This record gives sequence, C-alpha cells and structure tokens, in this order.
Amino acid sequence: MANILVTGGAGYIGAHTVRALLARGDHAVIYDTLATSKAETIGKLEREGAVTFVQGDISDTARLDQVFATHPIDAVIHFAAWKNAGESMLKPAKYFENNVAGTNRLLDSIQRAGVRRIVFSGSCSVYGTPARLPVDESFPLGPESVYAHTKLMCEQVMDWFDRRHSVRYVSLRYFNAAGASADGLIGEEPAQSANLIPVVMEATLGRRPKIQVFGDDYPTPDGTCIRDYIHVSDLADAHVRALDFMAREDRSDIVNVGTGEGTSVKQIIDVTERVSRRTVPAEIVGRRAGDPVAIYADNTKARTVLGWAPQYGLEAIIAHAWNWHKSIG
Ligand SMILES: NC(=O)c1ccc[n+]([C@@H]2O[C@H](COP(=O)([O-])OP(=O)(O)OC[C@H]3O[C@@H](n4cnc5c(N)ncnc54)[C@H](O)[C@@H]3O)[C@@H](O)[C@H]2O)c1
Repeated sequence: MANILVTGGAGYIGAHTVRALLARGDHAVIYDTLATSKAETIGKLEREGAVTFVQGDISDTARLDQVFATHPIDAVIHFAAWKNAGESMLKPAKYFENNVAGTNRLLDSIQRAGVRRIVFSGSCSVYGTPARLPVDESFPLGPESVYAHTKLMCEQVMDWFDRRHSVRYVSLRYFNAAGASADGLIGEEPAQSANLIPVVMEATLGRRPKIQVFGDDYPTPDGTCIRDYIHVSDLADAHVRALDFMAREDRSDIVNVGTGEGTSVKQIIDVTERVSRRTVPAEIVGRRAGDPVAIYADNTKARTVLGWAPQYGLEAIIAHAWNWHKSIG
C-alpha cells in the first residue's frame, strides 16, 4: 500500500483519481482548500477506502511540511489549480499565483521531505492552435491564454526540480476531461465549469436557458469546432500508471492523454439528444476569439510509455454525464 498525497483531490479529476488509488489499496491523503469542490465528495471517498483529508492551501508551506512529517508520503499527484482559461485572461495574477507560485511551493516542500515523484495536471492548451493533427508531444508550444501558460511554466519549474533535486515528474497533458463515474457516485460540479458537456447537460435539464454554439462555419465536416473528449475515469487510470512508470523507470516524461478522436460540438449535441431523449436548446452565435478549429491527440506515447488505453467512448461519456447531472438536481 502506497501513501499518495493528492492536491486538489476533492475536485472533479482528483476525486476520480482518488477512487482509482483506493481501488488498488493505496492510502490517499487529500490536500484541498475546497475552493471549487465540496466536502460531501470527501465523505463519499472515505466510504471507499483509506482516505485522510487535510483542508489546506498548496501555498501554505508550514501546513504542507506538517503533512509530509505526519504521513510517509511515497508520491504526489498535483491537481490543485484554477482552470478557467477565460477568467485567466481577466485575472492573470490570480492564475500565476495559485498555479505557478503554488506549484513552486509544493515542489519545495516535496523535495525537502525527500519525496521524489510527482504527477502533474498538464493541459493540451500548451500547444495553442496546432499546425496539423493529431498533436503529439513534440509539437511546438504556443499557449494562447494565461492559464495555458501557467501549465507550461509549471512543466519548466518541475524540470529544474528534476535536474537539481531528482524530483521525477510526469506531466499528463489532458485533452478535454468529460463524463462522470459509471456508477454515478461522483462527477463534475456544473457551477464550477464552463466546459461544453456540463453546459449541454444543464441546458437539456432546463437549468439554463440554452447553450451557445460559438460558430458553425468552421472548415470541419459540420462547421463546428472539434475537440478530444476523454472520459474522466480513463484520465484517472493514466495517473495511477504514471506513478508506476516513475517507480519503475526513475525518470520524468510528458505525455498526452486523449482518445485520439475528434468530436464536434454538433456531435455532442446529437448524442446528448439521443441519450436523454430530449432536445438540447442551442443557438448558433459568432466564433469566439482564440478557439482553435480542431485539436485532438496523438496518444501513441501514453499507450507505449504508460501502457494506457482509453476504455470509454463518446456514448459512455455522455450517458455517464447525463446520469450524474440528473442526479444532482
Ligand atoms: N477539466 C479539464 O478538462 C482539464 C483539462 C486540462 C487540465 N486540467 C487541470 O486538471 C486539474 C484538475 O482539474 P479539475 O477539472 O478537477 O478542477 P476542479 O476545480 O474540480 O479541481 C481543482 C481542485 O483544486 C482545489 N484547489 C484549487 N486551488 C487550491 C490550492 N491553492 N490549494 C489546495 N487546493 C486547491 C480546488 O478546491 C478543487 O478541489 C487542474 O489543474 C486543471 O487545470 C483540467
């Protein structure tokens, strides 16, 4: 049984990853402010296995040091961050402070505690608008938002902690996290998310008037933007595999985590209508500045280096999201 510190472990992807750790018998020490998550999620996780919850901020070095002194932590999975790209353009300092300065402090505590492994929530947004598709890890980087830039900066900071302190890292560059747990226990908090699928679900349930489709005149088969939606449980599995990879190979790496398939906004709406047997209220509005037309992953590296492969497709993502959103009404 390993002891894993999970920052942001009460959040959407964090909670699913904690479940994956508990399922294999690990002890998860969740370290979270609960700024964008709920205490009730902790309660659900505690019923599943060995969970210790510490309410704390990654910038609070004294508290972090205390956690490392109390628990024999083997590795860290670091989710804690702000994640809204739009907001980051209005409040850059908020994002540099929490995402970059916070990660730096966490890394400093990690290395002082003698911990040598961290899995990091990276993002495909570091690629900006890709020149061709699918996107592999060697593509040129061109973050187009403050948020995306914070993710790139964290990778660079981690690289120096690796070189100077031998703290190995795996940055998992997620594509679009989506769906909910298959049994409906946990899912994404719609109040905290500006992502397409929660917005589609809430509109379909009549909790918001409609969804806005930003442009239907793109050079794609149906004119709407294309993204790579990856089931949150598949993402969770990648984190567990990244821990095993570092334990096995004692080195750092950067790995895309996506299905490798592009899905358009219109396809999301169509599958939601089929699954829910309801109409999705939608209106077409103008293109949104900074939206890449299409992006999806080349996931060869995740398959070869981590031995990972996605288990869920679009139908399951939408069905699980629909069940979850209905249940939290
Ligand atoms: N959701 C996506 O599609 C997506 C895509 C790429 C990357 N990411 C990254 O994955 C990570 C998790 O995303 P999520 O969707 O689960 O978000 P989330 O908001 O549900 O979870 C983040 C958690 O971190 C906590 N937190 C924030 N700042 C903290 C701090 N200073 N100290 C301690 N806890 C803090 C929040 O309370 C929350 O529980 C983030 O780093 C995000 O940038 C998400």
